[in-house]
Amino acid sequence: MRASRNGGDNPAMLEDSIKAAARALSGAGQVMAFTGAGVSAESGVATFRGAGGLWEGQPVEQVATPEAFRRDPLRVWRFYEARRVQASTVRPNPAHETLARWQRRFPAFCLATQNVDGLHQAAGSREVLELHGGLWRVRCTACDRQREDRTVPLPELPPRCSACGAIERPDIVWFGEVLPTDILSAAAQAAAKAEVFVVVGTSAVVYPAAGLVEIAASAGATIIEVNPAASALAHLADIVLRGPAGELLPRIDATLEVS
Ligand code: OAD
Repeated sequence: MRASRNGGDNPAMLEDSIKAAARALSGAGQVMAFTGAGVSAESGVATFRGAGGLWEGQPVEQVATPEAFRRDPLRVWRFYEARRVQASTVRPNPAHETLARWQRRFPAFCLATQNVDGLHQAAGSREVLELHGGLWRVRCTACDRQREDRTVPLPELPPRCSACGAIERPDIVWFGEVLPTDILSAAAQAAAKAEVFVVVGTSAVVYPAAGLVEIAASAGATIIEVNPAASALAHLADIVLRGPAGELLPRIDATLEVS
């Protein structure tokens, strides 16, 4: 397929890319969306990389590794507690809402996210494959008991397991840890079957999650990238839409409705 690229500054070309994306989607039975922090940017959630990103002021190895948690669980908890407090105040934006609508529209639709903020679920998406865990779950470091906890702020940091008394950790996948195998393999299977694979708001630099784009591309899916900037895997995209997801996904959706 010939790549359709709007380049970011040409409204006519952007319109062509939106039509190309809607055409690809309208004939598809199996659709997969793969999202990153950018899909929540318009809800007011900070992304990780780039100016103002979470990793700019906060070295990853001090807050998002198992070693950091062993060394200083309180520091790591304070970092995640701040994110929980912030996430409790934000709402899904039109990008989340469009993806939730697509789950109802397409015969087979899979949504895999690297985000931990729960905004896809808040918008109505179901069976979201959370590749990097979730902010609203905690897990015991000793007995592995997992529970949902939406209390903000948590009454005690670090929280303790009511079953065994050990400290609990956020149920987040940290650097150097293995992704939940059932979730990753469900996502890889869906990527291999997808006819259209929509990559939204991710820099696509963190593996194995970013590898889903490669799986879909090598299995022959039409890849659509929605992002104001090129991701590391933009060269795999057949259709590129440069701009904010909260504006562009609804525009694709509106074009789908009339095609
Ligand atoms: P990044 O911060 O690496 O990338 C965010 C992407 O969103 C960038 O490509 C931006 O250009 C794009 N973006 C910004 N605003 C946008 C908007 N309004 N609409 C669409 N796109 C927009 O975030 P991720 O790719 O999600 O892992 O990062 C991947 C993983 O690295 C995260 O899950 C996290 C992080 O370290 C863990 O914490 C394990």
